[in-house]
Amino acid sequence: MADLGTKYLGLELKSPLIVGSSGLSNTVDEIRKCEKAGAGAVVLKSIFEEQITSEISKEIQSSNIDMHPEAAEYIQSVTRDRSVYQYLDLITDSKKAVKIPVIASVNCVSADGWLDFAAKIEKAGADALEVNVYIFDIEHRDDSKGIEERYLKILKAVKSAVKIPVALKISNQFTNLSSIARDLELHGVDGIVMFNRFLYNDINLDKMKVVQGRGVSSPDEFMIPLRWIGLLSPQLRIDLCASTGIHNGLDAAKLILAGAKAVQVTSALYLHKIEYLTEITRQLNEWMDKNGYKSIHDMRGTLSAKDPSVSKMFSRFQYMKYIIER
Ligand SMILES: Cc1cc2nc3c(=O)[nH]c(=O)nc-3n(C[C@H](O)[C@H](O)[C@H](O)COP(=O)(O)O)c2cc1C
Repeated sequence: MADLGTKYLGLELKSPLIVGSSGLSNTVDEIRKCEKAGAGAVVLKSIFEEQITSEISKEIQSSNIDMHPEAAEYIQSVTRDRSVYQYLDLITDSKKAVKIPVIASVNCVSADGWLDFAAKIEKAGADALEVNVYIFDIEHRDDSKGIEERYLKILKAVKSAVKIPVALKISNQFTNLSSIARDLELHGVDGIVMFNRFLYNDINLDKMKVVQGRGVSSPDEFMIPLRWIGLLSPQLRIDLCASTGIHNGLDAAKLILAGAKAVQVTSALYLHKIEYLTEITRQLNEWMDKNGYKSIHDMRGTLSAKDPSVSKMFSRFQYMKYIIER
């Protein structure tokens, strides 16, 4: 059996397979199940900036929160039965219950008002913090550069508030992903999770209603992080963690070959239960054995853009070739 150990965000993981942030990592019992199924680490379900600031503002008896309208309804429903302070208990309790690293997660649009809470997350024992930045600006408050600067501002503020490693979970929707990734590295990010998957909408034609689109990913979606990790891993010194569309051990192997330090799995575990992670681990191990890889370290990045022929395949060249030849 191959050595599945890897180092991600400075943390020693016994497996590169991480359970991604979701309801699957929202209780100590579920987190225990993740460890039992072979997870190298677990990312807790996100707490939202708006949840934190609303709790803080309640504390100071203020009702003047400038909350994003689409968040308000969600926040009301969540904060009703779950105080943000329970999040700190979840960190402390899960750290006692499992040996694998526990990575906390905050979903935010700014660095305003929640940095004290980031320090509390660190104090509660989180091994690292994953910050999911989700800026959705259709009111043209900012141009593209302005939005990228907000990412950097958030990163700088979080890095100054905590000493634990900080990863940013970003979407693939940037004008120049390579440039923002490099800027994040320059501003001290420890790792980037590629990528956050947005929830899209659909239209139910029978009911003439806008409804929520498919909440879980489809297997082919792994090609999105595959391309970008393949292209960017040789350019960056920071850790890249794959997320989106990794549904089996072979997908995980591909992302590691492209240069990922670790691989997050979420939808596949919703579809097949947390225990399915054991099967993903078995598939990864089996593939490594068959192909003579003794460790993750041996295989990582062997099919990344550091090889010019691979670089061509991940870039505009393959697009041109495909279109011209058909
Ligand atoms: C039900 C569900 C809940 C999720 N909750 C969160 C969350 O709280 N925070 C977060 O950063 N991502 C959340 N995600 C996104 C996942 O962490 C992951 O990035 C995304 O689903 C793509 O990976 P996958 O293809 O393995 O599912 C959620 C996904 C699902 C399906």
